[in-house]
Amino acid sequence: MTVYLNGEFLPVDEAKVSVLDRGFLFGDGIYEVIPVYGGRPFRLAHHLGRLDHSLEAIHLANPLDHRQWQGVLQELVQRNGAGDQSLYLQITRGSATTRDHAFPRDAIPTVFAMSTRLESKPADSVTGLNAVAVEDIRWKWCHIKAIALLPNILMRQQAVAQGAEEAIMLRDHFVTEGAASNIFIVNHGVVITPPKSNLLLPGVTRDLVVELCHSSAIPCVEGAISEQQLRAADEIWVTSSTREIVPVLRLDGVPVGNGHPGPLWHRLRDLYQEYKQAFREGRTD
Ligand code: PDD
Repeated sequence: MTVYLNGEFLPVDEAKVSVLDRGFLFGDGIYEVIPVYGGRPFRLAHHLGRLDHSLEAIHLANPLDHRQWQGVLQELVQRNGAGDQSLYLQITRGSATTRDHAFPRDAIPTVFAMSTRLESKPADSVTGLNAVAVEDIRWKWCHIKAIALLPNILMRQQAVAQGAEEAIMLRDHFVTEGAASNIFIVNHGVVITPPKSNLLLPGVTRDLVVELCHSSAIPCVEGAISEQQLRAADEIWVTSSTREIVPVLRLDGVPVGNGHPGPLWHRLRDLYQEYKQAFREGRTD
């Protein structure tokens, strides 16, 4: 595997970062995950826009402009064999000679990117997962795609320990998001997802699902979801760049709806796959 580190393309074993890097010592950095279909990064402008927002929120200038990012990511994808991949990029505040919480004066950000093969599911595949509801134990700036993921890790592990694949977080009895995904429910034919706020990551997949609902006249609202609504939902879905749209079949061991992927999930799955196909064929950006 070839990776990108601070201006160079290197075999992964040769890419080295200082132990004084603030990403390592403090988790002081941000990241993005971008799916690649047919050798092209999907919804790249959206991911780079979110990257800008994350960087701005932590007072770090973007070391590359969008055109440079596009060049770096495209080259990385090519060097790793094109096709379908999952791109990961990370920027930290770099390293300083002493460990001090306050920003170092002249640190040079560390810029890293890697790309791994993405197993694309067949367009008509039906998958599903089990989820558990957990209390959202995170801070209040969850709109930043921060590399400090310890709460998400602990909540995901809690799900795994209970034989589930995702944790759905509740803050004050309202849904925020999944440990590494956004959440949608269906209630009497209406698709609902929590509105964007500082309490959740503005998911690129989430936005596309909302867009697809609107363009196909599927009722969709961005509104608060109470714990009660979640537990009574006809359908629950999780969305993310690497998982796309996945139906939750059991929540805390209780079947969601009839325990099978619902009709609106099938609709959105098809719309999402059509959109992806158009992207692969160069009919959309
Ligand atoms: N995570 N919320 C959280 C907390 C996430 O970590 C993610 C994605 C999402 C979905 O965002 P998007 O649709 O833009 O991928 C929501 C990535 C995939 C990860 O950490 O691996």
